[in-house]
Amino acid sequence: MLQILALSHHATRILEIGTLAGYSTIWLARALPQNGKLITLEANPKHAEVARANLNQAGLEDTVEIRVGAALDTLPQLAAEGQAPFDLVFIDADKVNTAGYFAWALKLTRRGSLIITDNVVRKGGVIDATSTDENVQGIRRFNAALASEPRVTATVVQTVGSKGHDGLAIALVIAD
Ligand SMILES: C[S@@+](CC[C@H](N)C(=O)[O-])C[C@H]1O[C@@H](n2cnc3c(N)ncnc32)[C@H](O)[C@@H]1O
Repeated sequence: MLQILALSHHATRILEIGTLAGYSTIWLARALPQNGKLITLEANPKHAEVARANLNQAGLEDTVEIRVGAALDTLPQLAAEGQAPFDLVFIDADKVNTAGYFAWALKLTRRGSLIITDNVVRKGGVIDATSTDENVQGIRRFNAALASEPRVTATVVQTVGSKGHDGLAIALVIAD
């Protein structure tokens, strides 16, 4: 789905928050044109190392740049370097900080960009306002920010698969 969204959006610059082993990174990077660029942010150096090996094996080492560090530290660096705007942002790191990543994604995109956020349904747990699960609470804060943000129009698509019932939010930036 990520690759189809990136391809249909003609994305040439993609930002990913949360790399793990580079699985989603590879799907997204394969949607890029020859001059395309993907920057992926990963806090765990071991995950970054595994992702680097996988990206090398996929022949994507010149297309993808991995930045190691907590995303709330590396995102301001991207902004300071003038890396924006990205055509597509995929948010898939720790769920507690998802609302913060969404705020940065808005700063690093433009009208027409897509911001996709994974794991926003959490087996339906997000409808429980009294949940003590910090991931559910983190996603509830994100969903509230998404619903009240006038610069995007958004939907949540629920998914069922080997990892159970979950879903992803797809937001289109409609104003700068
Ligand atoms: C769900 S996994 C990413 C999966 C990957 N996007 C995929 O679909 O193949 C989340 C990743 O975010 C990383 N992560 C957790 N907290 C982070 C943070 N504060 N900043 C950046 N990355 C973080 C984790 O180390 C983990 O590798």
